[in-house]
Amino acid sequence: MKSLIIAILSVVYLGVNAQAVSILEGPRAVPVEATNGMVVTSHTLATNEALKVLENGGNAIDAAVTAAFALAVTQPRSGNIGGGGFMLISNEKSGKVDAIDYREKAPSKAYKDMFIDKDGNVNQELSRFSHKSAGVPGSVAGLALALEKYGTISLSKALAPAIKLANDGFIVTPRFSQGTISRKERLSKFESSKKIFYKKDGTAYKPGEKFVQKDLAKTLKRISKHGAKEFYTGKTAELIVEEMEKHGGYITKEDLANYKPSIRKPIKGTYRGYDIFSMSPPSSGGIHIVQILNMMENFDIGKLGHNSADTIHIMTESMKRAYVDRATYLGDTDFVKVPTEGLIDKKYAKKLILPLSASSTNSKDLKAGSPAGYESSETTHFSIADKYGNVVSNTYTINFSYGSGIVVSGAGFLLNNEMDDFSAKPGVPNAYGLIGGEANKIEANKRMLSSMSPTIVKKDGKNFLVTGSPGGSRIITTTLQVISNVIDHNLNISSAVNAPRMHHQWLPDELGVEEGFSPDTIKLLEKKGHKIVQKNAMGAIQSIMIKDGIFYGAADPRRSTSSAKGL
Ligand code: GLY
Repeated sequence: MKSLIIAILSVVYLGVNAQAVSILEGPRAVPVEATNGMVVTSHTLATNEALKVLENGGNAIDAAVTAAFALAVTQPRSGNIGGGGFMLISNEKSGKVDAIDYREKAPSKAYKDMFIDKDGNVNQELSRFSHKSAGVPGSVAGLALALEKYGTISLSKALAPAIKLANDGFIVTPRFSQGTISRKERLSKFESSKKIFYKKDGTAYKPGEKFVQKDLAKTLKRISKHGAKEFYTGKTAELIVEEMEKHGGYITKEDLANYKPSIRKPIKGTYRGYDIFSMSPPSSGGIHIVQILNMMENFDIGKLGHNSADTIHIMTESMKRAYVDRATYLGDTDFVKVPTEGLIDKKYAKKLILPLSASSTNSKDLKAGSPAGYESSETTHFSIADKYGNVVSNTYTINFSYGSGIVVSGAGFLLNNEMDDFSAKPGVPNAYGLIGGEANKIEANKRMLSSMSPTIVKKDGKNFLVTGSPGGSRIITTTLQVISNVIDHNLNISSAVNAPRMHHQWLPDELGVEEGFSPDTIKLLEKKGHKIVQKNAMGAIQSIMIKDGIFYGAADPRRSTSSAKGL
């Protein structure tokens, strides 16, 4: 009897287990699926507003601009009108991919040694947390340009949800609350910032409480009424200049009036038959994503296996070589000649990476290569696709979380601290440990070098991947790993986004890994001579894959507020 009961229980158990196994089979992470469009941003409220635009017949550009303004309200640590960014737009019908550069510019009073103290050292307080750390903001002009040239709705329509969210308030998430608690010291230094981000008793807003931004609502309303020019020549410009004059900042009335976004040709490369479009200078992103992929193409990465020690070794060595070149050659092409064609040349990549030693190359022994033509992280990304064949890949930033920490008095928005992305002193690393050279020295009206890499991958002329990430120097490596995860390892977009990531940027000579790599793999890499350092999560890559007319959205789980929604 006893053995019969055991036998019956075993059958029941195995049955349940077999069923569980069959449920668990298939992808480990499942993307959101839709047939009429997809929005993936780092904040649900922004995703919702952009989705409504698509539902009402608007295109991806309308939705993108709406999302960007909504993020400026709901995620002030990176969403912004006081910073700048890059937007890539691909229209499948025309076959064109355009890039809008709305990166901040150095004020006209800026000069090479503006952050060097009397002892010849970089004054990081000045380059990161002072009014002098702010570049002339580009977001409002860039977003307005996107709408004017590629959109179908008015600027006021795109601003309406943001105005409502600022004026009526929104419910604070744990991430929002934790962010303001962790940056309390920085955000309390200036009365204008403290007043916005903390309650009268000085405490941070708690999850579930309402966060209202009346000054920001008024600023957005003025822009809605008078157009983008209001920010650059109207009352908002006056408030910015007043703020600068009171605290020794450099941005003048003329700097604001003269700010213009540019439409640029994106960087174009290929990877195993796919076309890669990504941001051109003043971002280093596009050039180095293509350069690293070009090096990786010399190996059968798919066969070597996803995140295997051999694959990671090849990626690490490719990354190191690209980041040495970044430090040497990259800067604003309006000021310096960047040997773009040479850097993204496949033959050059081959020369850099082959023959590849089985051991790690010491970063100290790596020097910039000689590409032909050479003559001399808090950010946020979103991806949107519509049913008309448009996709938008947008990354914008105020540099650090909460930028300089300085809110423009009376205008309710944070100023960027993007001047720290210049090379304040050749050879001295910036906040991301990135070394820069002469090409990225501070010059009046110049754009500081960026790593932001909004990227679109096409296959046979069709939009295939829309991707990009925050993360400072890790943006480039995060983005290219998702591309490789999809193309080399056949992962669905959700698994590709979720997979553990690694990063190497030449200096410091360390291979950063997220949690999730097997100790065996780490041991094998250490044996090859790599110095492994366990890191916090890298990036937040909000991505879309489009295949056979279906949109697959993947929000990065590394951000608790990320969301992908389709229609
Ligand atoms: N501020 C970070 C970047 O633009 O790369």
